[in-house]
Amino acid sequence: MMLKKSMNELIEIINNNLDGIIKSSPLNTKLEESMQYSLDAGGKRIRPVLVLLTLEVLNENYKKGLQTALALEMIHTYSLIHDDLPAMDNDDFRRGKLTNHKVYGEWKAILAGDALLTKAFELIANDKNLEAETKVKVISRLAHDSGNLGMVGGHTPIELHTLEQIHKAKTGALLKFSILSAADIANVNDETLNTLDCFSEHLGLMFQIKDDLLDVDGDEKKLGKKVGSDVENH
Ligand code: IPE
Ligand code: IPE
Ligand code: MG
Ligand code: MG
Repeated sequence: MMLKKSMNELIEIINNNLDGIIKSSPLNTKLEESMQYSLDAGGKRIRPVLVLLTLEVLNENYKKGLQTALALEMIHTYSLIHDDLPAMDNDDFRRGKLTNHKVYGEWKAILAGDALLTKAFELIANDKNLEAETKVKVISRLAHDSGNLGMVGGHTPIELHTLEQIHKAKTGALLKFSILSAADIANVNDETLNTLDCFSEHLGLMFQIKDDLLDVDGDEKKLGKKVGSDVENH
């Protein structure tokens, strides 16, 4: 299949759209600077790219999923800011730069995360490219996948046998959303939805397994974050 846009082109589109997205606010506070700091800190952009690529695969214009993709990257970025806090993984480096709380302090990092989370929903609600019904579907899916039954729910202490469930929630839910939000936007039939559901579940599980392995034998420079953090945190 020939895709109209390459992955690198899509990453550039995402980066260009994230650039200044918060700083364009009239307030221009330190809090907003800290939100933008983490958004601009880079990252692979795998989740937003998957939204756009899935739309392309489904023969839909990727532009229909752009606001959803940006919203998803905002929620992912908030999850990283909070994940790195002293009360959680207590990490000093993220995406090759100091973590948000190391630069702006703990309370601002907490608020930056909170504000990125809520801003994400504003973005989708204000999306002019989607029908009202599709927006409600996407918003509902995102709320579910980022909440207690999704990403946040995966951030609790566990026994080993529940690790798979944790992976599926903590990391799998947002990766699943990358694929299934595009399916919502493209309004696919049940058979396609089930196939994409199965694929995205495995993708999410694999992604966190690989991340955990890289925490043992990865290269800190390439990863942009400290390795050995998981063992340290038991
Ligand atoms: C890191 O996600 C957190 C996990 C869910 C494993 P990524 O590996 O996608 O991090 P960035 O966005 O590229 O920094
Ligand atoms: C993924 O778990 C956390 C999120 C979903 C935010 P990790 O704690 O393994 O992520 P990294 O390794 O810090 O990126
Ligand atoms: Mg962590
Ligand atoms: Mg990790």
